[in-house]
Amino acid sequence: DRTLTLLGIESSCDDTAAAVVRLTPGLPPEILSSQVLAQTNLHAAFGGVVPEIAARAHAERLDSVVEEALTVAGVGLDALDGIAVTAGPGLIGGVLSGVMLARGLAAARGLPLMAVNHLAGHALTPRLTDEIAFPYLMLLVSGGHCQFLLVEGVDRFRRLGGTIDDAPGEAFDKTAKLLGLPQPGGPAVEGEAMLGDPKRFAFPRPLLDREGCDMSFSGLKTALLRARDSLIVAHGGLTVQDRRDLCAGFQAAVAEVLAIKTDRALALSGPVTALAVAGGVAANKPIRAMLETVSTRHGTPFLAPPLRLCTDNAAMIAWAGIERIRVGILPSSDFAARPRWPL
Ligand code: KG4
Ligand code: ZN
Repeated sequence: DRTLTLLGIESSCDDTAAAVVRLTPGLPPEILSSQVLAQTNLHAAFGGVVPEIAARAHAERLDSVVEEALTVAGVGLDALDGIAVTAGPGLIGGVLSGVMLARGLAAARGLPLMAVNHLAGHALTPRLTDEIAFPYLMLLVSGGHCQFLLVEGVDRFRRLGGTIDDAPGEAFDKTAKLLGLPQPGGPAVEGEAMLGDPKRFAFPRPLLDREGCDMSFSGLKTALLRARDSLIVAHGGLTVQDRRDLCAGFQAAVAEVLAIKTDRALALSGPVTALAVAGGVAANKPIRAMLETVSTRHGTPFLAPPLRLCTDNAAMIAWAGIERIRVGILPSSDFAARPRWPL
């Protein structure tokens, strides 16, 4: 039991991130720095993340983001006990940039190197902010992911179900695009929905008849497109209220599907210490409220880490590295960067 100070590096999607996290025995973990450089503006015109643009941006920015993280933390490379880097899953160009930098730094300084699964990073985040024991249920809902994970240990995850097509964040982003709202779509759609009537349009609640907790969100997007187009055909365009009602109907459908499937996941998982959420979509207030209601009904504490730790960041990667070292998993620089890497 010694103090562990780790540098974390994350570059698997469209955020270039580095962080320094320290665990001192007997104290809660400390995030000494957590720098996130988003690429939103670089991809905005394309309606999605463009892998080539992402890879180049990571390669150009990683050095300075890492340097910033060390400077803000007031920690030199010599004071580190190791480096943790996202080795997948994600866009391989970005993952490779992060892995190469981490490998170089670790080799130059003789530091232990820990390969971290990005999803494990998300899944272990609740333990960075709260003293929470295994097992707990994690609902990861972002632009790229949607799954229920039963987190049984630092390196023990059971996937209970997830989306069979789009992630909800992706559906929010596409909805915004179809309605001429700004990106990222989630906050824009949530804002419009606040003033809309969720009952005016009947959107589907896909896969509710299927057992278990798999979900589907791509049909929702088609339904929205159809509703939008019939309004345009009938009235020559969308009114402000049309847009609000479409957003409200869409959001209500996503929220209801997530709530019903969370209810099932809690029933399937057996006793858990908490329901924790992560991912950008967990920022959505009505969705969050519905999840909390379900959780409370099961008598399970509801945990939503602060948004900056729910969305992509490197503190979760450094933390996952610390957790892995603590349970005796050996560091190694001999690992591959993996575009696909199920938990
Ligand atoms: O976790 P995240 O930052 O990145 C990954 O996808 O890994 O999630 C971003 C996604 C975007 O699709 C964004 O539209 C969505 O989260 N999002 C929201 C809200 N804020 C962000 N979706 C619904 N409501 C929100 N308030
Ligand atoms: Zn993520």
